[in-house]
Amino acid sequence: MSCPLLNIIAGLRHHCINVTFIVSLFFCLVCECGETITFIHLSVVLMLCLIFLSVSLTHIYCLNAEAGLKTGRRPGKSRRSPLPTFYNGDQQPELLAAHTSLQGRRELLEQACLGHMRKRRVLSPEDLKHLIVDDKHSLIYCYVPKVACTNWKRVLMVLTSDGRYTDPLAIPANEAHVAGNLRTLSEFSVAEINQRLRSYLKFIFVREPFERLVSAYRNKFTRRYNTAFHKRYGTKIIRRHRLNPKPEALEKGDDVTFPEFVQYLVDPRTQREEPFNEHWERVHSLCHPCLIHYNVVGKYETLEADAQAVLTLAGVEGTLQFPTSGKTTTTDGHMAARYFKHISPLYQKKLFNLYRMDFLLFNYSTPEYLRTR
Ligand SMILES: *[C@@H]1O[C@H](CO)[C@@H](O)[C@H](O)[C@H]1NC(C)=O
Repeated sequence: MSCPLLNIIAGLRHHCINVTFIVSLFFCLVCECGETITFIHLSVVLMLCLIFLSVSLTHIYCLNAEAGLKTGRRPGKSRRSPLPTFYNGDQQPELLAAHTSLQGRRELLEQACLGHMRKRRVLSPEDLKHLIVDDKHSLIYCYVPKVACTNWKRVLMVLTSDGRYTDPLAIPANEAHVAGNLRTLSEFSVAEINQRLRSYLKFIFVREPFERLVSAYRNKFTRRYNTAFHKRYGTKIIRRHRLNPKPEALEKGDDVTFPEFVQYLVDPRTQREEPFNEHWERVHSLCHPCLIHYNVVGKYETLEADAQAVLTLAGVEGTLQFPTSGKTTTTDGHMAARYFKHISPLYQKKLFNLYRMDFLLFNYSTPEYLRTR
C-alpha cells in the first residue's frame, strides 16, 4: 500500500476516546489555573491543535490515495491490467438454477470474498496456468491437485481429443499430467482470455483443506516411488526441521514426518523463497475464486453428483461418465484427525491460519479435532 501512515493513524483513531479524555483533562487543568493562563499554556494548546490538524489532513490524503489505487483512477501511475476481474456481470446458465445447492455455494463464496478478501488485485495471464480450456464445449476447469484432478484431466482429454480417446480410464494417469496435452488459459492472448472467461462454463473442485493436505503428505512423502519429491522437498525439510538428522535421511529425504512437514509449511522462510508446491498450495492462490466467478464449485465430498452436474451443464452427459471409481484415496476426517494428534496446539493454529481462506471461502467448518481454542 502506498500509505504506510494509514495504519498508524487508523490505530490512533481507535484511541480517540483516550485522546479526547486527555485533552479534556488538560483543559480542566487550564480552568483550575484560572487567571494564571500563561504563554506556555497557550503554546501547548496551539501545538496540540497543529498536531491534530496535520494528522487529520494526512488521513484524508491517505484515504484518497487508497481509493484511487482501488479504482485505478490514480493519475499518472495507472497499473490497471487489461484483464477485468470477473466478479459480476457474467450470465448464469439457466440449467444451473436447477442445482440449488450449487447456487448456494456460489453465493456463499461471493459473500465470503466480499467479507474476507481485502486485497483486491487484478489478474495477469501468469495467474491462469491452472485453468484448463476446452474450446469445443466452452469449458474452463481450474485443477486443484488432490481433488480428483487426474480424472478431470482425463475427462477433458477425452472431450478435446476429437475422438482419439473415448474412455477416460484408458488414459494413463501420467499422460493426463503431461504439460501440453491440455491447453491452459494462460496460453491465450488477453482478448482471447477475456472472451473465454465471459462466455465459458467455469468450474472448480475443492476439498476439506486439511484432508487435502494430509492426502498430499501421504502421497508425496510416504510412498517410496515419489523420489522426485523426496529429493526436492524432503531433503530440505529434514535439513531445516530435524534435530541431528542421519546422513542417509539428509541425502534421500524419504522419511519426512507429518510434524516436520507442518513445520516446513508454517516457516515464513518457505513462502519467502518460492511459492508452495501446487499439491499444498491453497486453492484460493491456485484458482483465484474471488476474481474468477466460477459457475460451479464442486466438492470432493459430493464428487459423483457434482461431476454429473458439470457434465450435464456441458451437454456431454450422454457421451462419457466421470470415473469416480478412481477416487481411491482414503484420507477422510478420521484420518486427518490421527495425523493432527501429533501437532502441537500452537502449530495447529498456525496451520489453520495458513489455510483459513480455503476454509472460509468454501464453507468448511473448523475441524473438531483441532486444539486451538
Ligand atoms: C455451509 O455449511 C453448513 C454446515 O456444514 C451447511 O449447513 C450449509 O448448508 C452450507 N451452506 C452452503 C451454501 O453450502
